[in-house]
Amino acid sequence: MIRFKSIVMRYGGFEALKGVSLEVPEGQLVTLLGPSGCGKTTLLRTVNRLIEPTEGTVFIGDRDVRGLDEVELRRGIGYVIQSIGLFPHMSVLENVVVVPRLLGWKKEKRETRAREMLALVGLEPPTFAGRYPRELSGGQAQRVGLARALAADPPVLLMDEPFGAVDPPTRERLQDEFQKLQSELRKTVLFVTHDLDEAVKISDRICLMSLGQVEQYDTPEALLRSPRTSFVQGFLGPSRTLLRLSRIPLSRLLEPPDGHHPSATIQHSVSAREAFSSLLANGLRSLGVTDDVGLLIGVVRLETLLAAASEEEP
Ligand SMILES: Nc1ncnc2c1ncn2[C@@H]1O[C@H](COP(=O)(O)OP(=O)(O)O)[C@@H](O)[C@H]1O
Ligand SMILES: [Mg+2]
Repeated sequence: MIRFKSIVMRYGGFEALKGVSLEVPEGQLVTLLGPSGCGKTTLLRTVNRLIEPTEGTVFIGDRDVRGLDEVELRRGIGYVIQSIGLFPHMSVLENVVVVPRLLGWKKEKRETRAREMLALVGLEPPTFAGRYPRELSGGQAQRVGLARALAADPPVLLMDEPFGAVDPPTRERLQDEFQKLQSELRKTVLFVTHDLDEAVKISDRICLMSLGQVEQYDTPEALLRSPRTSFVQGFLGPSRTLLRLSRIPLSRLLEPPDGHHPSATIQHSVSAREAFSSLLANGLRSLGVTDDVGLLIGVVRLETLLAAASEEEP
């Protein structure tokens, strides 16, 4: 658990953070979302003490981070940033074992661990372990950065726009992979992004910030359903309704097959939003829904999707 208590950060007369209080529950993924310059990175960096706030206290568990040894603190926190900062003269494997080596793990143990981490993030060790950073694509370099952050198995991960520098299809794939990984690892994650779609997709809770303050801290569903300030409403914009569909699994809106042969089908594992896009793209009012092996298991209708998007939940 990470807890921010009344964090103020002043640069001269400018207040970058104006008294932020926030709790990141253990095992959850919380995103700091907001326009550029609203204080996301500043807040994130108070956790590993790259920034000392002017006022206020950051706790990890029940311990004030100021009371912890700085080096020890950082070894217990995985830190992933956009321009990943891999060491160019070290191989992928050597980059991943940096922290375990600092922790004094034996060579065999740390290299075994590094290979496991590479496999976990989808980089086959025989292919990638010996490569150098310049021999990687942007998406592969981000995966190495994640493997490195996870290598010493820290309970806390800080991620600052980790997928910001890669092209949109790669970004979506990295988001999917990270989401799957997080559902297994259950780290306490604080994740910075300015991308609303990304935040809605991956977060347990979203902290929407503006000008150094928290505007709303809520689950994605609650944020999209009931924006509490005019800033939040403006930030979410007109795509708010469509975004709600991206949190609804298609399987929840399925109806039994109606006997007709569908002119287009979609996999049951996608979100309601993807089904909606597919209906629009194909100019249809219903789609067949198939299981993992392609068997027809139901249909989804346009009316059902529209109703789900506008439904007022309790
Ligand atoms: N070292 C600094 N000196 C002065 N102002 C700073 C410094 N670091 C950040 N700021 C200002 O604080 C505000 C918040 O910055 P930052 O946390 O990096 O925003 P974000 O990550 O949300 O884009 C910005 O207006 C930025 O210009
Ligand atoms: Mg930033």
